[in-house]
Amino acid sequence: MNTPRLIQVSHEDPAALRAEVLAGLAAEPAVLAPKFFYDGLGARLFSAITALPEYYPTRTEAAIFRDHLDAIAAAVGPAPTLVDLGAGNCEKAARLLEPLAVQRYVAVDIAAEYLLSALDRLQYEHPNRELLGIGLDFSRQLVLPDEVGPGPRLLFYPGSSIGNFDPGAALDFLRQVRAACAGGRLLIGVDLVKGVEVLEPAYDDALGVTAAFNRNLLLHLNRLIGADFALADWRHVAFYAGAASRIEMHLEAVREVTVRWPGGERRFARGERIHTENSYKWRLDDFADLLRAAGFKQPRAWRDARDWFAVFAADA
Ligand code: AVJ
Repeated sequence: MNTPRLIQVSHEDPAALRAEVLAGLAAEPAVLAPKFFYDGLGARLFSAITALPEYYPTRTEAAIFRDHLDAIAAAVGPAPTLVDLGAGNCEKAARLLEPLAVQRYVAVDIAAEYLLSALDRLQYEHPNRELLGIGLDFSRQLVLPDEVGPGPRLLFYPGSSIGNFDPGAALDFLRQVRAACAGGRLLIGVDLVKGVEVLEPAYDDALGVTAAFNRNLLLHLNRLIGADFALADWRHVAFYAGAASRIEMHLEAVREVTVRWPGGERRFARGERIHTENSYKWRLDDFADLLRAAGFKQPRAWRDARDWFAVFAADA
């Protein structure tokens, strides 16, 4: 049996991370990047979100892969090297290793510790495949280390994580993805525009798991910069901003709050918000155009029966 390897690529030193948080807290309105959700607990809470009845993207995407697996495999397989961007619990890629004849699976994620336990589990089911974990924040810049190996790559970016990027930044990111898989292909999941009655509960579930996921960011910040955010002072806010085709998530102060950390503080009025995430929803044709604009050729898409979600394949 092989053993998974893990390499940590630290682009961002703790000082840079701290500076980014402080700049976000000083901004008007305050804003933090969604990557700050994903500490150890945050990665687990996201995994719990994917099991919620209201959170349709994960299971809709899985249904598309199930129902169209032969067509998708014919379009992108065989794929000797599969690079999974934001691999998390590695469950989505696990279902593709056999059908796509993957020899080397490269799981990239910002939450590196979580990744290793996921890869350990996966190795038992796939004793002969080569598993490599890369701890990397690729949200700013996607540069894959040489350990990924030679030969054409299939880059896998499922779950509509592309939705975290503004359209301009999505174009920029997809150009980098194309450069990282030149001669290979991209397989990407995209959440589609739909009614607000479906979208909003998916980001504001009755059980409160998404609220916990959002508010956990404050616990992460307390550790990162030594701040004194109190969970009781902050509530989860999520809504669909139709003009921008995006879900917005915010943390809203329920009373006047002064947050302190070594070297600084910020006062928040009651009702003032910290913007923590955008999750863009795309129209099918607009996303195909975006892929072409990024230099990809021949985008093809598979959808579920309700047209809620799409999986695109394209040649680099
Ligand atoms: C991981 C970015 C795809 O936008 O649906 C889920 C994150 N935030 N619930 C999404 C998320 C709140 C998720 N992505």
